[in-house]
Amino acid sequence: MSEAELLADEARYCSFGDTVHYVEPPKVFERCQGSFLFDGRGVPYLDLQMWYSAVNFGYANPRLNAAMKHQLDTLPQIASQYLHASKIELSKAIAEDALRKWDQKGRVHFNVGGSQSIEDSLKLVRNASAGKSLMFAFEGGYHGRTLAASAITSSYRYRRRFGHFGERANFVPFPYHFRGGRGIDKEAYGELCVKQFARLFETEYNGVWDAKAQQCEYAAFYVEAVQGTGGYVIPPANYFAGLKRVLDRHGILLVVDEIQMGFYRTGKLWAIEHFGVTPDILVFGKALTNGLNPLAGLWAKEALIGPAVFPPGSTHSTFASNPLGTAVGLETMKMLAETDYASMVREKGAHFLQGLRDLQRRHPEIGDVDGLGLALRAEICEADGFTPNKRLVDRMVDIGLAGDLGHGSDKLGLVLDIGGYYKNVITLAPSLHITAEEIELGLILLDQVLSRAKRDLG
Ligand SMILES: Cc1ncc(COP(=O)(O)O)c(C=O)c1O
Repeated sequence: MSEAELLADEARYCSFGDTVHYVEPPKVFERCQGSFLFDGRGVPYLDLQMWYSAVNFGYANPRLNAAMKHQLDTLPQIASQYLHASKIELSKAIAEDALRKWDQKGRVHFNVGGSQSIEDSLKLVRNASAGKSLMFAFEGGYHGRTLAASAITSSYRYRRRFGHFGERANFVPFPYHFRGGRGIDKEAYGELCVKQFARLFETEYNGVWDAKAQQCEYAAFYVEAVQGTGGYVIPPANYFAGLKRVLDRHGILLVVDEIQMGFYRTGKLWAIEHFGVTPDILVFGKALTNGLNPLAGLWAKEALIGPAVFPPGSTHSTFASNPLGTAVGLETMKMLAETDYASMVREKGAHFLQGLRDLQRRHPEIGDVDGLGLALRAEICEADGFTPNKRLVDRMVDIGLAGDLGHGSDKLGLVLDIGGYYKNVITLAPSLHITAEEIELGLILLDQVLSRAKRDLG
């Protein structure tokens, strides 16, 4: 079938509700390898977002693909009431890592996607707090699109058509230094943001705290340590420790959503490890299987998830802990244990960030660049370096996807993802296996798409 025929059939037969066509016509790819996607003409596109961080270890990663193929030939499917080794070994690998890092016993629980695992975490929280159903979450936070997950996701846009099936979170400002703390030192801004949150508990008249009963109306705070969809916003280093002190003082659980930033995206297994706090519940997904299988899950402290409090059947999905997913997930954990990803990601991240800073010096429209490991951001603005410029960044995406950029004699494309509160941030999540040459190529292509976009828009 030709691409034109495929697109016509898509327009006729596919729901548009489960996707967003960011470019018209939508792009069709045929093949992937390493850091590249290939279109029907065989043109390679350097992918600097890797399926929103689901493919941290490169497309068609030989080791992880082999684990999938091996499982396909041995035990590809089995009902969840029966056990298989990789489910148990993967749970153990994650739980032992948490025990080592945080001195906390806990258990691991699987489901079929990030949103579903967020829902499972909501059950744990409600169960532990005698059914309290109110949560804190961040402005700019994203936790998924099922009904309960979108109730704690900041955008009203995701809820508008569907009414309220779960109580909407109380959305607290994220410590977004570039937009919220200009002129203030970043650490001082972190302290200020903690103080602003702590103010809620000063008197019962601030709406959330009963000092006599020593009870908060809100059961948990849902956080991304580095905001993903919100635009790869990196908080001040001192912020989460301060926040956790306030939460502990008021009996509020900390749920850390690592679905996008987990599995070494930021240079540590979990992004929250950069900030020196211990989560009560940690939710993961995406790169666990390098995007090969929709497996996600959570780790929770024993007191929240032990069988006495969270008995069999508390959640269930036919495909939860399916053996293809857990086999690849286990191989991912083994690979992470055998290779020094921390140094590798730190070094590659520093190289990329340096290049972005050079680019920023040449283009005043890049208002902010920042990065933690290989979670990098470039905020595209007007020439004043501050006013968000969505039109310019949209044009950059279109130019990248047209697949006619040049470097040497070959045609090339560039895959970029856009996030941020004003949809003006290039959120860069390259393969963690990206080579130094590919980083240089990425910087050249970014320069090309930005220069062309500026020219196009005059
Ligand atoms: C931080 C975060 N939480 C939750 C989700 C939802 O996960 P899923 O799309 O697998 O349901 C995502 C997906 O992008 C995410 O980035």
